[in-house]
Amino acid sequence: MNTMDMLDNLSVRVVAEDSVMYESPFWGQHGISLYVTASKDGFVRHILIDVGQSHEALLHNMRLMGIDPASIDAIVLTHCHYDHTQGLAEVLRAIGKTDIPVIAHPDLFRLNFIDKPYLRHVGITSDDAKSNLEKIGAAFFLTADPLQLMPGLATTGYIQRQTDFEEVGIPLKTIDTQNHLVQDPMNDDISVIGAVKGKGIVILSGCSHAGIVNITKHAIAMSGISEVTSIIGGLHLVEAPMERIAKTVDALDSLVVGSIYAGHCTGFNAQVELRKKFGTRFMPLQTGNYFEYP
Ligand SMILES: [Fe+2]
Ligand SMILES: [Fe+2]
Repeated sequence: MNTMDMLDNLSVRVVAEDSVMYESPFWGQHGISLYVTASKDGFVRHILIDVGQSHEALLHNMRLMGIDPASIDAIVLTHCHYDHTQGLAEVLRAIGKTDIPVIAHPDLFRLNFIDKPYLRHVGITSDDAKSNLEKIGAAFFLTADPLQLMPGLATTGYIQRQTDFEEVGIPLKTIDTQNHLVQDPMNDDISVIGAVKGKGIVILSGCSHAGIVNITKHAIAMSGISEVTSIIGGLHLVEAPMERIAKTVDALDSLVVGSIYAGHCTGFNAQVELRKKFGTRFMPLQTGNYFEYP
C-alpha cells in the first residue's frame, strides 16, 4: 500500500473553541476553528479548518494571536453546522483575496434541522449561501473524496461507517429529493489528516459526527500510517450514553499512540473518561492552545 507523503512540520492554533485558556484574553464561542500551518520542502501553507459561528470572536482572537487573515490559503469546512460555518462570508472578506479554495462535502448546503424542542435550522445560514460566498472570493471544492491540500496534508472525504456503536449524536433531519422528512446521516462530516515526518498522523476533526473511531480507522487506512500521534477537535459525545463513551475510549486506546485534545461537543463525561484512560495524554481543548509536530 502507498503511504501518504510526510510534512516536515505541522502546527495547530485553536482560534475558536467553547472554552478559553486560563487567564487568556481570548473570546470563547460555541464552535471550533483551527489555524493550521503545514510545511514541506520549504513550501508553507496556512489552512483554516472551520470558522466557528462568531466571526467577531474569531477575528478578535486571530488579531491577539498575531495571525493575519490574509495569510489563509484555503478553508476546510468539516460539515454544515452553523457553529462551524456561520460568518464564513465575513471571514472571506477579512482574508480579502479571490479564488480562495473552500473544501467541503457536496451535501454541505442541504437543509439540516432539529425539531425538538422546536423547529430550527442548524445548517449553513442564508448569509453564507454558496452564490454569496463565491462573489466574495470562495472557490468551492465540493467532493466526497479525499483531497490533497499539499503532500502530507489532506481531507478525508466521506467516512465509511464501520463501528456498531457510533452514530451522529443528535436527531438531525433533512428533506430528501422526494420531499420526505428523513434522518440526516451527516454524510458531509469530514476531517483533515496531517502526516508528519518522524511522528505519524494528526487527525483534525470538527464534530466527529461520523464517529471518532470510524474517522481514526479511515485516517489510518487512507494514509497507510498506523501511528496516530494526535487527535484534535470535537468528538460529539456530549449526549452519548456512558456505554458508547466507554467503547469509544477503549477503541481509541487501542488505536491512538499519542495524545487527544478534545473539546467543543465532546462533553464532560467523555472528557473525564478520556482523562482516566490517557492521563495527561488527554487535555480538554481550549481557545489559545498551540500544538506543534514534530
Ligand atoms: Fe459543532
Ligand atoms: Fe456538528
